[in-house]
Amino acid sequence: TTALPYANGPVHIGHLAGVYIPADTYVRYLRMKGAEVLFVGGSDEHGVPITIKAEKEGCTPQDIVDRYHELIKKSFEELGISYNIYSRTTSKMHAATASEFFQKLYNEGKFIERESEQYFDPERQKFLSDRYIVGTCPKCGAEGAYGDQCEKCGSSLSPDELINPHSQLSGAALVKKMTKHWYLPLDQYEPWLHEWILEGHKEWKTNVYGQVKSWLAAGLQPRAVTRDLDWGVPVPIKGAEGKVLYVWFDAPIGYISNTKELCEKTGDNWERWWKDSDTKMVHFIGKDNIVFHCIIFPCMLKAYGDGYIVPENVPANEFLNLENDKISTSRNWAVWLHEYLQEFPGKQDVLRYVLTANAPETKDNNFTWKDYQDRNNNELLSIFGNFVNRTIVLTHKYYNGVVPALENLTEADQAVVKEMNAFPEQVGTSIETYRFREALSELMNLARLGNRYLTENEPWKVFKTDPERVKTVMALSLQIVAKLAILAEPFLPFSAQKLQAMIGLTNNSWDTTKETVLLPSGHVIGQAELLFEKVEDSVVESQLKKLNDTKKANELNAWTPLPIKEQVTFDDFQKMDIRVGTVLECTKVPKADKLLQFLIEDGMNQRTIVSGIAKYYPNPEELVGKQVCFIANFEPRKLKGVVSEGMILSAEDREGRLVLITPSQLVAPGCNVG
Ligand code: MF3
Ligand code: ZN
Repeated sequence: TTALPYANGPVHIGHLAGVYIPADTYVRYLRMKGAEVLFVGGSDEHGVPITIKAEKEGCTPQDIVDRYHELIKKSFEELGISYNIYSRTTSKMHAATASEFFQKLYNEGKFIERESEQYFDPERQKFLSDRYIVGTCPKCGAEGAYGDQCEKCGSSLSPDELINPHSQLSGAALVKKMTKHWYLPLDQYEPWLHEWILEGHKEWKTNVYGQVKSWLAAGLQPRAVTRDLDWGVPVPIKGAEGKVLYVWFDAPIGYISNTKELCEKTGDNWERWWKDSDTKMVHFIGKDNIVFHCIIFPCMLKAYGDGYIVPENVPANEFLNLENDKISTSRNWAVWLHEYLQEFPGKQDVLRYVLTANAPETKDNNFTWKDYQDRNNNELLSIFGNFVNRTIVLTHKYYNGVVPALENLTEADQAVVKEMNAFPEQVGTSIETYRFREALSELMNLARLGNRYLTENEPWKVFKTDPERVKTVMALSLQIVAKLAILAEPFLPFSAQKLQAMIGLTNNSWDTTKETVLLPSGHVIGQAELLFEKVEDSVVESQLKKLNDTKKANELNAWTPLPIKEQVTFDDFQKMDIRVGTVLECTKVPKADKLLQFLIEDGMNQRTIVSGIAKYYPNPEELVGKQVCFIANFEPRKLKGVVSEGMILSAEDREGRLVLITPSQLVAPGCNVG
């Protein structure tokens, strides 16, 4: 299984590197090993963020999830994430499955019922989740802090800490009201969790094992599995109207629902996947999902009983950064999969390669476009692509594409054979232990071995003097190409399949690659086609520019107007004499780079006004003939030796730029503004 992405936004490279690419690599490998695999995914379509997004956009939550489910599903397909099923938690099957799951636990008394006081919006007549409660931050005093977090100062809050809490929906002041919820008593499962994970799964990744250990050390609390909301799977019991299952209760059940949905279609028995002790379940997730997949969902399965298995492993990853900055959906700081697919058609494998090579397996890691370019140009292209291409081209040149017999091996050749035959096992073991970076770098070592072998034996030189020797060299190189073509498939499925077709390999079974001869003598291979192409500097530059534009846009969005000043009366206002004047002359004030000196026709006289806007009007002569607004009764002041008789009005925008205020039509100089 892969974590079900929330259908409130598209998928980005962080999701891919942490979850979807390693999972796909793993299942492709298992299938090539001949294992029976079911690869289950889907969209997580419940939860508060989805309803908030719908409100912001003025549509229904269903509209939101329909849009993103389609987008995510299609982009996964295009990237080659080879699900057996990708469904959604708004499916009928899911509602039925999640509902029945809750019902059984309820009937068997596996929950505890608790009443508590919660904030209630008297106008909308509903309970509010934390995100819908806003108020003044108790820490920094900012207005508009949320019930779970203040975005100004970043502190996490609870709704009770907010000063003057009110509803984001209606603006109403909130009242407290009693409400009933059902809790899963996780504390009762502590001994079992301890034995199952801490004793039984010491081989789990240390980041995962460590997190479980510290949760258990801190002691578990009963967790509410229901919410007062109207978007979700309804709680299927009497007296629970207006309540739904908590999204983290229903979502993992989605793995089961989606299995059922698939098996119903294919005529398979879904239970053998979930209730057979021979089944090994592996959850691919990011680190923020560990507690749900290692503690809560397993407790749910355990509570349900009926033979449900629990995961064999949960190889959670850490996070990926982008250009040394945290990936953020709200700040649009991400490389979005659907955009990548559009901008880099046919380059799925490059992204898969770079994200595997930089997978945040043991610590947070970083994606940069420079590294993307380097890995493409210096690894995929120069090592893998170059070796394959040289070998195929030479085979055509010397033998019209017919594979020569692998015979007359020297001692050195035999050492190469031995070395190359160790790769299937090595790469396989790394994949099986979830060390995908290591597996990929081993794969590249096989390509390096091939490159080195060709370079050392120089068939292009030897051909004239010793053509028999070249047969051996080419035969052996071709076997390395064939091995690469198969072993690369879990990582680079598009290129591997293309290469297999090119050299006429029809069997991609992993274990056959342990043999030396994959391409028998006499076999005819096809023409060389390019597998990878150079990534130019201009590509990196344009991606960096795109990110930089995002950064700038974010800075502008972060701008807020100044607070409103103290109230003034009409009389206060009347004291100011604001008028329109026509610019007669405009020049820079010598030795003052900020100042412009205006000569203004004010209807009665000409007056001089000095204004600090030189920086924004580099060609002051262009202002001659324009009309400006100025304060006519401003007390005269001397600036850099010039007496200024008034003040010209300009607007200061977000970047601090000053822009002159001009009437929208020509008016008589001297007329009043008010
Ligand atoms: N939607 C969750 C997230 O993106 C993951 C849900 S995984 C599941 O963090 F198990 F609940 F489905
Ligand atoms: Zn604050």
